[in-house]
Amino acid sequence: MNIVVDTAWEAIQLENTVRIVHQKIGIVNKIGSNPSACMDLLISLNKVEELDEAIDISNQIFVPSPAEALKYYNKQDWLKKIEDGGLLVTVKRDGHMAGYAICYREDQIFHIWNVGVLESYRGQGVWKKIYETIHQYATKNGCSQLTMNTYKSKFSSMYSFCQKHGFVEYKIEDGKSFFTKHIP
Ligand SMILES: CC(C)(COP(=O)(O)OP(=O)(O)OC[C@H]1O[C@@H](n2cnc3c(N)ncnc32)[C@H](O)[C@@H]1OP(=O)(O)O)[C@@H](O)C(=O)NCCC(=O)NCCS
Repeated sequence: MNIVVDTAWEAIQLENTVRIVHQKIGIVNKIGSNPSACMDLLISLNKVEELDEAIDISNQIFVPSPAEALKYYNKQDWLKKIEDGGLLVTVKRDGHMAGYAICYREDQIFHIWNVGVLESYRGQGVWKKIYETIHQYATKNGCSQLTMNTYKSKFSSMYSFCQKHGFVEYKIEDGKSFFTKHIP
């Protein structure tokens, strides 16, 4: 599996704004010895033209009620999160979007707000790569904490992930677990 990062990194760091530069900055990792089994994993940062597709995938994964759709699936809101120092990570495998994450920033806190990997791509390390990208980005941009909220009952895979990867569960409210992790 070849993993390529496609990023507007420099532009964002310089101007703290969203600009798209399609630039392959290198093959980060290679896994697998059988060339026929190799698949490309393309990770993009703040590629806002992929926002519609990310929102579409998120809808497929979470199937929001009309009220939830109004509250959580407003494209302008997602864009504002990015413009205000947040991050959109999109992952394509063989040209198809496999997963995404959208994060927002509040002072030194980088909050992982909405993430998902399509069912057919799960269990192959896609989220792990997205998470590593977020962690690296937040660290590089001077954040001191990563936070994430989830429900143990509904999203047990993410709950296990947080427990396994150094997050501390500091609050539970109405079944919702609040996690935090100091970085780097
Ligand atoms: C949670 C989710 C993003 C994981 O994506 P993924 O690409 O399948 O995850 P990865 O293959 O990269 O696995 C990363 C880690 O997640 C955890 N994990 C993933 N699938 C898991 C499962 N079925 N059971 C328990 N832990 C699991 C593990 O900690 C795993 O690390 P490990 O393999 O070292 O144990 C994906 O299952 C998903 O989109 N679920 C529905 C939406 C969702 O739950 N979003 C989060 C809401 S807060």
